[in-house]
Amino acid sequence: MNQTGFQKYLSLVAELNQHAYDYYTLDQPSISDAEYDSLYRQLEEMEAVHPEWLLPESPTQRVGGALQERFSQIKHSVPMLSLQNAYDKGDVNHFFDKMSKEGVDQFAAELKYDGLAVSLRYEQGVLVRGATRGDGEIGEDITANVRTIRSIPLRLRSLQGSAVPELLEVRGEVYMTRKRFISLNQEREMEGEAPFANPRNAAAGSLKLLDSSITARRKLDAVIYQIALWEGGGNRIAPANQVELWEVLADLGLPVPHERCSGLPEQCLTFYQSWQEQRYALPFDADGVVIKVGDFASRERMGSTAKSPRWAIAFKFSAQTALTRLEGVEFQISRSGVLTPVALLTPVNIGGVVVKKSTLHNYAGLKRLDIQIGDVVEVKRAGDVIPKIVRVLSEKREDSSTKPVAIPSHCPACAQATELDEEKVFLRCPNPVCPGRIRERLRFFVSKDGLDIEGLGEELVVHFFEKGLIRDAADLFRINKEDLLSLDRMGDKLADNILEALQQRKRVTLPLFLRAMGIPGIGSVTAKDLEKNFKTMDELQQATEEQLQSLSGIGPVLAGNLRTFFQDQANSDLLEKFRSYGVAIVASNPLSGENQNHPLYQKKIIFTGTLGTMSRSQAEAKAAQAGALVIGAVSRQLDLLVYGDKAGSKLEKAQSLGISCISETEFLTLLGEIN
Ligand code: IVH
Repeated sequence: MNQTGFQKYLSLVAELNQHAYDYYTLDQPSISDAEYDSLYRQLEEMEAVHPEWLLPESPTQRVGGALQERFSQIKHSVPMLSLQNAYDKGDVNHFFDKMSKEGVDQFAAELKYDGLAVSLRYEQGVLVRGATRGDGEIGEDITANVRTIRSIPLRLRSLQGSAVPELLEVRGEVYMTRKRFISLNQEREMEGEAPFANPRNAAAGSLKLLDSSITARRKLDAVIYQIALWEGGGNRIAPANQVELWEVLADLGLPVPHERCSGLPEQCLTFYQSWQEQRYALPFDADGVVIKVGDFASRERMGSTAKSPRWAIAFKFSAQTALTRLEGVEFQISRSGVLTPVALLTPVNIGGVVVKKSTLHNYAGLKRLDIQIGDVVEVKRAGDVIPKIVRVLSEKREDSSTKPVAIPSHCPACAQATELDEEKVFLRCPNPVCPGRIRERLRFFVSKDGLDIEGLGEELVVHFFEKGLIRDAADLFRINKEDLLSLDRMGDKLADNILEALQQRKRVTLPLFLRAMGIPGIGSVTAKDLEKNFKTMDELQQATEEQLQSLSGIGPVLAGNLRTFFQDQANSDLLEKFRSYGVAIVASNPLSGENQNHPLYQKKIIFTGTLGTMSRSQAEAKAAQAGALVIGAVSRQLDLLVYGDKAGSKLEKAQSLGISCISETEFLTLLGEIN
């Protein structure tokens, strides 16, 4: 066996896992995404050549395995209990008094993560099982899903070089960050799926999926706060209190609570108070603070009731509301022309975040609240991020001090007369070329849900539009450096970066482009489904409503939306304009396409040195387009190396391995771009 190769493989797995720990658990990336990707690709290559080396803790093994039909049941080795709740200081002081009678005055406090309890089992350091709480005695086996959570290590290690326990069972919480929750819901709405009510439901829903590849995309997080079983710690003694527990868990590579406190009751109360005020500034939902007896011997002595341990209490946060005043109502226009009323509030601090605006949803929502400018309102931050007006204190209304909200009779952006739908729910601007709507479409086009153009954000694109640099999305691809430099605060470097990013997006896959068009109901998933049946934009443009409807996942509404979009002359003109500026809408997967006879088809290729006529990424895109696989490192598996100016060690290595090395010109000739 190739011993050194295998050892290299082992250290690459360990290295990648350490980088993942730095990134996902410590939130302190130690290398760039590109460097990580390149190492990851090297690992994939090694595993492709030596499947016999494959380790269960390899980062490539997080997602995989077949779809499950159901979850099997697991009996917990130690029951998973819940906690007694405290809703005010009286309840908590009562708890502290009881503890004091037991001779305990040292406590630990952590945030109470609003997620789903899980139990993880590690045998000889390897994650072998993940389970839900279930009824506390019996839970469900969700190992495949738990493996997809990046902050959960697949193998424990000790940074300090101490022993890893032979058997370790830990308890913790799986949750979703608010940011992830918001983007997930946006994706779901784009796909016409019901949004989740809050991050907790989203996390629970994601953990209970039978297809772990979907769980992986949900990007869950985890935190561990308890040890249920510890055996065979070797030279290491099991932690004796919560502070030691945090240290040991962190040393083993497990994610420990971000915010911690240990000390006397007063210190725990201060910790609670400070997080009660700051909770919305956290990146995730916390619904209270858990206060626990610090040392484990005392815990053991006190034991549990049938439902909960006697040594801990969950001090819940109170719902956060504040009184403020409605200063005005702004009507924001959407891509589709709906005017959404937004309440402008006298700024008020709720849970560490200053709230200035609150959505009123739609015309009907505004009417339902029966609100007037100048009214005192109660604003609430619920589990989600968007604050709501829960109540209008109309009893405080003085006749002369308030005035009704003016419903715009004309669109604030284009002055066309607005229309109310029959059900009197939505107010709309009917003008398809309303600059307000175009602005929103542009914003969407460049956003994360659209073409996701790096370095060209929503604000910048709005700025281009307002300065008259562009009139539609296609115009972006006509912009030159001079245009950019004519703007205020536009430096040379920034201009180059923007042009480079746009250049890269000139080759765009059909699903990505479709999604960026913002056709109602056509998000990534539907766009990909469409591509399975229509290989090119032209084919899709020609498709009849019947053809569209015959596809699974496309009902009459989506088929209608697509037809309406393509039938609109303005949209056909826009598509033509994209083409004329060199935007090529290409198939996502060139391997399944027509170019199997291409000399680059399925060839492993690498670029090195400075290319003269194109950037590295353009070259890679061209190669990928022809069916080649772009890889990161030179090895015997490499088929072709393309060198530019100042090519160094990679070229030398490839030559010494007898791999074909060609110049940029030869590469372009291969592609048929020059002859
Ligand atoms: S200690 C016997 N610490 O809250 C259970 N629980 O409502 C000991 N939770 O079942 C749990 N954050 O799922 C503990 N920092 C934390 C927690 C926490 C969230 C959950 C846990 C528990 C539930 C009780």
